[in-house]
Amino acid sequence: MPESSDTVKKNSVHDVKIESLAFGGKGMTRIANLAVFVRDALPDQHLRIKIIHKKKQYAEAIIEEILAQSPDYVPPPCPYFSDCGGCVLQNLEYSKQLSIKEQQVRDVFTHLGRLNPAILPVKPAPEIWSYRNKMEFSTGPNRWIMKDKDSGAPTDFAIGLHAPRRYDKILDIDACLLQDDERNRIFRVIRTKVKDLDFPLYNSKSHEGYLRNIVIRKGHYTGEIMVNLVTRDETPDRLSPVVNEILKNFPNITTIVNNITDSLGMTAFGKKENILHGSGIIHDMIGGISYEISANSFFQTNTCGAEQLYDVIEDFADLTGHETVWDLYCGTGSIALYLSQKAGKVVGFEMISDAVKNARRNAEKNGINNCHFFEANLDKFFQNNPEFIGKLPMPDVAVVDPPRAGLHPDFLKELIQINPSKLIYVSCNPATQVRDLAELSSSGYNIDKIQPVDMFPHTAHIEAVALLIKS
Ligand SMILES: C[S@@+](CC[C@H](N)C(=O)[O-])C[C@H]1O[C@@H](n2cnc3c(N)ncnc32)[C@H](O)[C@@H]1O
Repeated sequence: MPESSDTVKKNSVHDVKIESLAFGGKGMTRIANLAVFVRDALPDQHLRIKIIHKKKQYAEAIIEEILAQSPDYVPPPCPYFSDCGGCVLQNLEYSKQLSIKEQQVRDVFTHLGRLNPAILPVKPAPEIWSYRNKMEFSTGPNRWIMKDKDSGAPTDFAIGLHAPRRYDKILDIDACLLQDDERNRIFRVIRTKVKDLDFPLYNSKSHEGYLRNIVIRKGHYTGEIMVNLVTRDETPDRLSPVVNEILKNFPNITTIVNNITDSLGMTAFGKKENILHGSGIIHDMIGGISYEISANSFFQTNTCGAEQLYDVIEDFADLTGHETVWDLYCGTGSIALYLSQKAGKVVGFEMISDAVKNARRNAEKNGINNCHFFEANLDKFFQNNPEFIGKLPMPDVAVVDPPRAGLHPDFLKELIQINPSKLIYVSCNPATQVRDLAELSSSGYNIDKIQPVDMFPHTAHIEAVALLIKS
């Protein structure tokens, strides 16, 4: 007899088959009509699960026992898998990760948006391991106790990544597969030295302690490396033994900086910076354009993935050399600069003042003079500055790359008024993208095609680039 959803209660145990993978990476099954989301579960697994939360619309569960494995299961290579919230799909064959992500984009457009655009086959990431050019590690005196395989090490020392949804607990690691081996070796040297020196680690509850973060960045194309030691207060001499140890083992390190912040949030963004070695800057390239990267400047975290994404944008824009392009939500201008060689002019808009300064400097350093960047909060900028906007060259092509929340409704209205004949919408959140595309489609834009792009293998993230043409 089929089970009723009334039997689903906190701590109740059920045998189920996982039907699909939901956004966010949890496995999904149904008991009667109740959707149940199961952490670390894969499609086609037969599982014994235990309910941990029951809500009216859905429940959440954990795996008690795997009764039959999914045919797409692969042993996760990372020993911290499932305790670390980062790579939730690591135990799933990469080709299956891709097909699931593509299907998720398809489902969002057809079910949620009731739109039926052509969805192109997902583009796999150029590299599936070591693809991040930046990793930010946190420190803390509250070590996360791993579920099944805890080392039993003291619990008052941890350097690694935050345990999922726990700002106060740190998963203690000695390597991350999303950065390359050289940076893992650097990380281990720093970790050991910090432990030897008995540095007080930052307590995010009491806001005491000294060392907060270790951030390591490497230019993918240049090999230049930056280590940023983030501390709560400024006593640079205290870091000298760590700096000496790093340079003794890795004399090739380009720069070491100390960012200082007493912020109560979980930020590694320094209010002040001291340069301890080198110039405080490294470089990387995207599409032949060189970028200067300082500790606090934003740069795409997956260099090759960004190049692939920008290739899709360039292909969709199909520029002839004369067009005016607007890059909206331009960050440090990397899409604008990428397209500048093929466009007449590019105008970029971005809210963060430092990012705009970076964009201007990046243009100047690369000898690009057909790009102009403006500081603008796009939520209201167009309504509040009609004269300024009226003096700008109007766009033939507009590229929007908003944050996860998508386009602000007031800005969306303005965009429809501006009326570019071609619109390229880059999104890291298909749910808000489909909401905005539905609005654009009812305002005379045809959704020509959608290209899903995987930039972050093993995570639940997926980017989608949409091409819209004014009819
Ligand atoms: C997804 S990022 C895109 C960055 C850039 N296009 C790139 O490829 O590197 C979104 C950008 O939008 C900016 N942003 C967020 N809200 C904004 C707003 N209301 N007005 C202008 N820019 C905003 C963020 O600061 C961030 O740089």
